[in-house]
Amino acid sequence: MRLCYPLLLCLAASLSSAYVIKSPHIWTKLILTHHWPITFCSEEHCHANFSYWTLHGLWPDKGMNCNSSWHFNSSEIQDLLPDMKRSWPDLLKPTSSEFWKYEWHKHGTCAAEAESLNSQHKYFSKALELYHKVDFNSILKKFDIIPSEKYYTFSQIEGAIENFYNIKPKIQCAKPTVNADYQILGQVEICFGPDFSLVNCEKNSTGYTSFKKSEFSVCDHQKPVYYPPAPFTNRH
Ligand SMILES: *[C@@H]1O[C@H](CO)[C@@H](O)[C@H](O)[C@H]1NC(C)=O
Ligand SMILES: *[C@@H]1O[C@H](CO)[C@@H](O)[C@H](O)[C@H]1NC(C)=O
Ligand SMILES: *[C@@H]1O[C@H](CO)[C@@H](O)[C@H](O)[C@H]1NC(C)=O
Ligand SMILES: *[C@@H]1O[C@H](CO)[C@@H](O)[C@H](O)[C@H]1NC(C)=O
Repeated sequence: MRLCYPLLLCLAASLSSAYVIKSPHIWTKLILTHHWPITFCSEEHCHANFSYWTLHGLWPDKGMNCNSSWHFNSSEIQDLLPDMKRSWPDLLKPTSSEFWKYEWHKHGTCAAEAESLNSQHKYFSKALELYHKVDFNSILKKFDIIPSEKYYTFSQIEGAIENFYNIKPKIQCAKPTVNADYQILGQVEICFGPDFSLVNCEKNSTGYTSFKKSEFSVCDHQKPVYYPPAPFTNRH
C-alpha cells in the first residue's frame, strides 16, 4: 500500500463540498509555499527561531494585486491569529502583521476571485487548513531527511515528497555563491486545483521566488543539497 493513501483519502474527503470554478479568467491552481526559516533568515539576516517549515503563502497561478481597495483587516481573522503566528510567522518582524497584509494584497485579493476564497477569513483559513493537511513538516522526517551537517541528493528530497503525495512539488534552493558546489534547501511548493485536491506543480511556473532580498530558484538536480540545522553555519 502506498504511503500517500491515507492522506489522499483525507484530502479526498474534503472534496465532497468542492466548488468547481467555471470562469476561464481566474486562477486554476493554488501554490502552497513553505519556507525553511533557517535558510530564509540566512539570506535576509533575520533571527530564525523556528525549527519547522513555516508558510510563505498561498498563491493563485494567475494575477497579482487584483484589488488594491480591499484592505487587509486583521479583525476579520482574529480567531486565526494564534495559528497564523505559529504557522505563518513574519520571519522578519515576528510581532507585526505586515507579512500577512503583503500576502493578502499581492495574492489573496486574486485568490478571492473564486467564491471559495472570497473573504479574508476564507483565504487565510484555507491556507492554514491546507498547511496542516499537507503536514509537510512530518514528511521529510518520515524519510529520515532531517536538518543536519550532511548533504542530501536532490532526488532523495524530491523522491520523498513525490512518493508521499503522489504529485510533483516545486523545490527551490538558495545558491550560496555563484560557483558553489552545493545548494541550500529553501522553499517547497505543493499545488492544488480549484477543488483543493493535490495536483502537480509546474516546474516552469514563473515568478514568486523572491521576497525582499532572498532569491530562491528551482534546485539544481545534480548538486548536493544542504538542509541547514539551526544555527545556520555559512560554508563559503
Ligand atoms: C520567536 O521570537 C519571537 C520574538 O522575537 C517570539 O515572539 C516568538 O514567539 C518566537 N517563536 C518561537 C517559535 O520561539
Ligand atoms: C474590491 O474590493 C472592494 C472591498 O472589498 C469591493 O467592494 C469591490 O467590489 C472589489 N472590486 C472588485 C473588482 O472585485
Ligand atoms: C475590520 O473588520 C471588522 C470585523 O469584520 C469590522 O468591524 C471593521 O469595520 C473593519 N475595519 C475596517 C477599517 O474596515
Ligand atoms: C517549460 O519551459 C521550457 C523551456 O522554456 C519549454 O520548452 C517547455 O515547453 C515548458 N513546459 C511547459 C509545461 O510549459
